[in-house]
Amino acid sequence: MDSRISARALAAALGGWRTREPAYEALADGIRLLCLDGRIAARTALPAERELAAALGLSRSTVAAAYGSLRGSAHIASVRGSGSMTLAVRGREPGRVVVSADAIDLQQASPAAWPGLAGIMSEVAADAASLVSRAGYEVRGSLALREAVAARYSASGVPTDPDEVMVTTGAQSAIHLLAQTLLRRGDRALIETPTYPHAAEALRGAGARLVGVPVSTTDGWDLDRAEQVFARTTPRLAYLMPRFQNPTGRSMDDAEERVHAAAAARAGSVLIVDETTADLAIDGASPGLSFADVPVVRIGSLGKTVWGGLRIGWVRADRDLISVLVASRPPRDLGTPEFEQAVAARVLQRMPDVLAQRALLLREGRDAVVQALRERLPRWRVPPVAGGVALWVELDAPLSSGLVLAARHEGVYLSAGSRFAVDGGHDRHLRMPFTAPIPDLRRAVDVLADVWPGVRSAAPVAVGDYLEALV
Ligand SMILES: Cc1ncc(COP(=O)(O)O)c(C=O)c1O
Repeated sequence: MDSRISARALAAALGGWRTREPAYEALADGIRLLCLDGRIAARTALPAERELAAALGLSRSTVAAAYGSLRGSAHIASVRGSGSMTLAVRGREPGRVVVSADAIDLQQASPAAWPGLAGIMSEVAADAASLVSRAGYEVRGSLALREAVAARYSASGVPTDPDEVMVTTGAQSAIHLLAQTLLRRGDRALIETPTYPHAAEALRGAGARLVGVPVSTTDGWDLDRAEQVFARTTPRLAYLMPRFQNPTGRSMDDAEERVHAAAAARAGSVLIVDETTADLAIDGASPGLSFADVPVVRIGSLGKTVWGGLRIGWVRADRDLISVLVASRPPRDLGTPEFEQAVAARVLQRMPDVLAQRALLLREGRDAVVQALRERLPRWRVPPVAGGVALWVELDAPLSSGLVLAARHEGVYLSAGSRFAVDGGHDRHLRMPFTAPIPDLRRAVDVLADVWPGVRSAAPVAVGDYLEALV
């Protein structure tokens, strides 16, 4: 299905696009980046030149020249009478791009599999005859896996029955299913900004109007704003990552949890807590389950702890909501493959080993990136982070999009800060995952350091002035 993007939405997504002169090339770059990282899908109609010019405060000729540049690079085609349409171009699929063998793809923060996984897969495969003698899928998830997930929650202080768990195809399908089930078009949904972009997309896709609550590496959650949003917009749901928030790495303290829980209860909002990154403590013990005494809906996953390729996630909720979810799932997805569920149920018995290995791997990656950034880009602010998969680095100029495009030319693929924003902004930030092999991480930082002076010097004077005012 073809879609369109309004001038207002495009202007918001472009954020601080003026990263170089001439302005029309900077604008074309901004739109290219949105196409490359999947924020604008192929076959999307772009706004008319006059509308975009008005939304951005530009002359129509600047927008016309930008569209001309995009036609030249085969990112868009213009059809007489129907305006300009983005094209599907190799290498610009959302998420993974087609990269050359020596390119480094840091758009996703996905660690390689836990080393014990292949052995467990072999054990389960040895038992394949009994597996394939059954139907092979079940919409709620296998009892063995639901029991294993429930036992982990119970041991962590949230008593859970297997009937309160539903297995999904990764956490992403849990987010999608909850969004589709709970939201009606026009409902408000509270979400952190910056946030995990595919969650924002799932909520928007279900018709929600997103209302952002800022989270920063220095100050955590903006509690005044959170209380205001709950009280004034009475969101149907709030989607939060209280442990090692993606991308800031922050964790909520007790006070932050209490404020959210009370405000959500007053507003009658469903609190959805995404725990995909919650077990990824790097320094010291895991902080424990968030919102332990609050009736929240929990989303879990083995995607970061064990392997993204398993596609095992789950929802923990009360029985009523689980039965609604079970009833809503089949039109889109009849269940999670049994083989992966059997593997997951066994892996869950080994979680202490898994998490110890993860902590080691992530610590090495984080320390390597922090050291390389301090050496090569000392003017960037690198926040301390005690867990999770990435650093939310603050650049010394709001030129994250320009940087990401320049790094792409050198074979390093990253997501600009604005990718994680709910309504534009975060042009001073870059999400730097530390899940890749250390030589790749070091090389990526080298590339960033090599291209950064050029990106800065290409920025228009206005950005430079803004910078000096901030220093
Ligand atoms: C916070 C968060 N939730 C959900 C997901 C999706 O996880 P899965 O691979 O289990 O679908 C991710 C993956 O990056 C994530 O970071």
